Amino acid sequence: MSTLPQGRQPALPSAAEVVLEQMAAHATVRRFRPEPLPEGLLERLVEAASHAPTSSWIQGYSVLRCTRPSERARLAELAGGQPQVHEAAEFLVICADSRRHRLVAADAGRPHATNLEAFLQCALDAALFAQNLALGAEACGLGTCMIGGLRNELPAVASLLELPEGVWPLFGLCLGLPEEQPLRRPRLAPGALLADDRYPSDAEVRAAIADHDREAEGWYAATGRPGRTWSGGVIRTFASPRREHLRRTYEDLGAHLD
Ligand SMILES: Cc1cc2nc3c(=O)[nH]c(=O)nc-3n(C[C@H](O)[C@H](O)[C@H](O)COP(=O)(O)O)c2cc1C
Repeated sequence: MSTLPQGRQPALPSAAEVVLEQMAAHATVRRFRPEPLPEGLLERLVEAASHAPTSSWIQGYSVLRCTRPSERARLAELAGGQPQVHEAAEFLVICADSRRHRLVAADAGRPHATNLEAFLQCALDAALFAQNLALGAEACGLGTCMIGGLRNELPAVASLLELPEGVWPLFGLCLGLPEEQPLRRPRLAPGALLADDRYPSDAEVRAAIADHDREAEGWYAATGRPGRTWSGGVIRTFASPRREHLRRTYEDLGAHLD
């Protein structure tokens, strides 16, 4: 476990405080107002978010902005019946994207090798970009909801969006004015996430989980589901393998996951 001094906070410049407070204020929004985003804001957010670090400067991602109401309704269904997918002002599909890399190699008559590492590079780039965008959106007063449910029926999503080879949808992102102010979910304590030099012992990990379970139980009780814990949710999430079609679907879209 890390030995963070209790109660001693470093003095930070006020701009840094604003950024850290914004990051720590995050809570996923699932009910949105219908008003559109102010003109030009999405483009501004994409531009700022695109300065996220990118593995070897490959910029391995793209965003599809879904503007057609009928497709949004279908995507909401495919994501497991999540109304926010068609109710939010914007719904973006965040894709890992090797298409540009393939095109530049093909146009130069050079080989393009793709494997698990290439997939991971693009997926990591895409996730860093998306979180940058979400944080920026929240700083502008918008609510955000990432939609991993987009992978529930990935072949149908890929075919609906007519994705070309080399473009791999990872998750969706709803953006819009919030219609609710959800109670922020607690997180594992910094000391449980940060270890000096070596991974902590199982006893230390279990103690940190017990602490977090107590806090999570309070959050569940305050949101109308008393008796639940964080570890109970984790057990349910990983009780059986999920979305087992993913390897096949990404490979059908030109990924090599070896
Ligand atoms: C990659 C990813 C996919 C997610 N997919 C969904 C989703 O399909 N539907 C949903 O309501 N929330 C989704 N979430 C939001 C998480 O449920 C949420 O972040 C988590 O429960 C913690 O709550 P908080 O964001 O309010 O702190 C997703 C989050 C991430 C990072």
